[in-house]
Amino acid sequence: MSSPLASTAYLNGKFMPLAEANINVMTHAFNYGTACFEGIRGYWNEGRQQLYLFRMRDHYERLVKSCRILSLEPPGTPEELNQITIEMLRQDNPHHDVYVRPLVYKSSLAIGVRLHNVDDGFVLFYALLGKYIDNQSGCRCCTSTYRRVDDNGIPARAKITGIYVNSALAKSEAELNGFDEAIMLTHEGHVSEGSGENIFLIIDGQLVTPAPSENILMGITRASVIKLARRELGIGTIERQVDRTEMYIADEVFMTGTAAEITPVGEIDRRAVGAGGIGPITAKLQELFFQAVKSELPAYAHWCTPVYQSVTASR
Ligand SMILES: Cc1ncc(COP(=O)(O)O)c(C=O)c1O
Repeated sequence: MSSPLASTAYLNGKFMPLAEANINVMTHAFNYGTACFEGIRGYWNEGRQQLYLFRMRDHYERLVKSCRILSLEPPGTPEELNQITIEMLRQDNPHHDVYVRPLVYKSSLAIGVRLHNVDDGFVLFYALLGKYIDNQSGCRCCTSTYRRVDDNGIPARAKITGIYVNSALAKSEAELNGFDEAIMLTHEGHVSEGSGENIFLIIDGQLVTPAPSENILMGITRASVIKLARRELGIGTIERQVDRTEMYIADEVFMTGTAAEITPVGEIDRRAVGAGGIGPITAKLQELFFQAVKSELPAYAHWCTPVYQSVTASR
């Protein structure tokens, strides 16, 4: 892809150059943040000359659930959305990693804040995305002064564009204060998640992570890590309320997300986590994860949808 705008996108039923996939300034979602989206990574496997989309079906299933919460009509079944994504990528034939972004949005050109009686649209495009957090040797985090949105405010289990104002406030505060990432607490003061990642602690050889009730996005990378830890390393995960200071004394901490992958946390609120770099369990999980996403672990090949040889999506 020489220029990102030269790549193919899909808008309301048609493939077109990304440069032409534009929306009107009056669009409801642009004015009010009323859209749901996903981020799906595609990993290029040089040896196999294949591009693998990681857990695409799970992403589209989550998108359908987000749509239900935001009263949006899903633009198709997860299977149909898989096929559109594969077709879009085949048109351009990328031989490198990609980041795919589907959005279902309130498309009416109308003033008025509501969810009902508003039309829905669908757009799909892809971009290049390198490391989301540059510091991969133990990123430096702070506890944010911004609290995570509550299920009765904007439900965090839905990946709603408007929620990302909460994330952006926290992320910018962290970066402008010299940190790499923010960790947000719930209104009750328990650990929720990073601005764009779930968080894991390793305590006494077990994984501990905030429960679904802690206003987290139910991460697909989170679910993958829980499975890899259990099956490949015999390490269980406890999903529960987590106190802020538990992070300070954990043996290891890492964050997970499609964009952030598995990012080790080296420091929180100016206190070193463990030895301050990447811990041994985090390193093992990272190694397994990067094999899995390129379809190099046969037991997890069903997580990877090949773009160039199969039109049958996996989950
Ligand atoms: C707020 C938030 N939490 C967690 C995650 C991780 O979710 P996933 O692993 O499905 O990408 C993301 C990324 O999408 C996110 O934006």
